Amino acid sequence: MEFFVSPDRADPKFEAFLVDASSKLCNWLATTNERAPLPSVCNLPEVEPTSEGASTTRLLEDLELLMAGSYQPSHPGALAHLDPPPLTASIVGELISAGLNNNLLAEELSPSITKLERNLSKWFADKLGLPETAGGISVSGGSLANLMGLLVARFKAHLSYDSNAFVIASDEAHVSIARAISVMGLPPEALCRLSTDEDGRIPLEALKQEIYKKKFEGKKCVAVIATAGTTIRGAIDPIENISEFCSDEGLWLHVDAAIGGVFALSDSTSGLVKGIEKADSVTVNPQKVLGISKTSSLLLVANKANLYSCFSTGFPYIEPSIGNDFQGGEIGLQGTRSAEIIKLWLGIRQLGENGIQRLLDETLNRRSYFHAQLDITKLNVITGPLHLIAVTPKNQKEHLTASWSDTTKKLLFRKRFMLSSPQYKGRSYLKAVMGNPHTKMRHIEELAQILNQSI
Ligand SMILES: Cc1ncc(COP(=O)(O)O)c(C=O)c1O
Repeated sequence: MEFFVSPDRADPKFEAFLVDASSKLCNWLATTNERAPLPSVCNLPEVEPTSEGASTTRLLEDLELLMAGSYQPSHPGALAHLDPPPLTASIVGELISAGLNNNLLAEELSPSITKLERNLSKWFADKLGLPETAGGISVSGGSLANLMGLLVARFKAHLSYDSNAFVIASDEAHVSIARAISVMGLPPEALCRLSTDEDGRIPLEALKQEIYKKKFEGKKCVAVIATAGTTIRGAIDPIENISEFCSDEGLWLHVDAAIGGVFALSDSTSGLVKGIEKADSVTVNPQKVLGISKTSSLLLVANKANLYSCFSTGFPYIEPSIGNDFQGGEIGLQGTRSAEIIKLWLGIRQLGENGIQRLLDETLNRRSYFHAQLDITKLNVITGPLHLIAVTPKNQKEHLTASWSDTTKKLLFRKRFMLSSPQYKGRSYLKAVMGNPHTKMRHIEELAQILNQSI
């Protein structure tokens, strides 16, 4: 069938298909600045298959239509979320992964890539300073990594059937934690949310007191969650102090470092997440900061054997792993997994240590530069040590901030800036994520000027 690539001869039609598709993609990327972050039109191609199937020409035309309606993360004004443009090597990695079509479920279905995943997860674990026993697995997104981290924590605490068990986190922890609690069959109140301090961090004393109180009530703690990089302002909980407390009390520490974890990869920024090396489990999401195309996330654990004891069920239809390691399908929730690890590996190899450091430093510099441009007599600024920053009018009543954010967001759209409009402690904010390497100082100055003049 001509729909599949020939296994025994070069296939010029397939090569031409790839070249034409790549050239359309390259053209879409190269004309980014002619458009805005969000498309002005969104026409959809037909969805249903035709009786005889579409020609490659038609498929490419349809793809072009889809591209025209796509969000454009490479636009310098695309600053709304944690969705930076993809590294070139990660685009290539995704393509190769699709062509190889290996399955990370088992070593026999992905011999080299399974080993690559083990080695790269270990490299990440080492960079974070986790112990020798550490390891991890690539999973599709930070939400899944958080869920899996909590499942392992609960399993290790022998609390899998305890409906009184609880998890404790700040009220700025990501929504995926609440979802994980629900998926775990726990009532909403099983997530104990502590009010953050003025810097958006968990107050250590409040954490201790709450845990002692719950202990007194006979409730058992599944895990303490520290966030390294909160979603709205990029705050980092006091991980080091929390980890000491957890170790004294024998509590599992899960660090949701979906945003902040990659800052451990560079000497110039690793101090920001100090203490992460003491975690029992860590979520890292390189898609959010390093420019690895989506999805790319890792769950790292201090003891890799814990993943196996929590998730393994036996695999009656799969050959055992060769060597002394676990099958991918035995150490996570997913069964079949694509080779997402390839684009992460290619991406960090392309950047090299210096490239990673430069990328992270420049990301933080953009935030600092933007912060310095803001008129703090008019704007209340919330930020943290990372690259997220949000503003709201200083002297405006809470209920009026929604219309300010709405009007200003529309104005920004007209100027080709896309910010998001989160709610934070009762007020509407406009949030910028300074993770886009195409955003230059002149864009930042223009953006700050619009915000300063919006009041
Ligand atoms: C702190 C934090 N944790 C977890 C997540 C969830 O990651 P994902 O969207 O990849 O599931 C996010 C998403 O923004 C986040 O900000």
